Amino acid sequence: MTTLLDGKALAATMRADLAGKVAAFAAAHGRPPALAVVLVGDDPASHVYVASKVKQTAEVGMRSVEHRLDAGCTEADLLALVDALNADPAIDGLLVQLPLPAQIDAASVLNRIDPAKDVDGFHPVNAGKLAIGEPGLVPCTPLGALALARLARPDLAGLHAVVIGRSNIVGKPVAQLLLQENCTVTIAHSRTSDLAGLCRTADLLVAAIGRPLFVTADFIKPGAIVIDVGINRIALADGKSRLVGDVDFAAVAPLADAITPVPGGVGPMTIAFLLSNTLRAASLRLGEP
Ligand code: GUN
Repeated sequence: MTTLLDGKALAATMRADLAGKVAAFAAAHGRPPALAVVLVGDDPASHVYVASKVKQTAEVGMRSVEHRLDAGCTEADLLALVDALNADPAIDGLLVQLPLPAQIDAASVLNRIDPAKDVDGFHPVNAGKLAIGEPGLVPCTPLGALALARLARPDLAGLHAVVIGRSNIVGKPVAQLLLQENCTVTIAHSRTSDLAGLCRTADLLVAAIGRPLFVTADFIKPGAIVIDVGINRIALADGKSRLVGDVDFAAVAPLADAITPVPGGVGPMTIAFLLSNTLRAASLRLGEP
């Protein structure tokens, strides 16, 4: 029987646990942890994601601060806002929702965020700490993917993990985390030769490609754990649309030992770890372990 790795349920359990810790933080420090989210422009998916982040931040008892800038704003406008939030002692965590409009260089913005407030874990200091195995703030989606893989198998040591995708946001950090779990890790990408054949050697397959239904049954070793990081909206013949992952769930699930659904898999875990990173950043900033 294939196990469905239920990210919605695990994220709800995490949020309940976090709510208790947030209350204890607020009692100790006279204020809850605070997360600032910056949204630039009109990207519809970003608006949906930010609305979920703001809502769930408040639900666990943290302070949520939202800043919106027009699509036409300059890089200097955004950097000035980041500087102000970096300098604000009442803000513990800060994220700038991606993607950014074309006139703004995302790397310049991410590099400007105080690494101690970088709850996305995208700053080079935090990426470097992850690479060398020092404690830092770790990107949320990779943490969510790992938590779901560990739900299937608490000890991942010795597994061959294949990660499809080499982005700084998911592919590279998830590979670093799996290496820390003592997996043997291969990072595959669009230029990998015989990608399906390589993936068939994976005990743990992480799909983070951004292409709907890309991973089909011929990519799967029977009994593998399959973690689908993709969230793609596809148009249906009746004019409606549907969210699908990078994995063709219907074809792959019967072969897998365990698999994440889309929606309801990695997606909800990303926000749960954003909240957990915010509490962590707040605790570290105020001198707690
Ligand atoms: N856009 C898509 N995913 C993310 C994320 O995890 N963080 C930010 N800041 N933007 C995103």
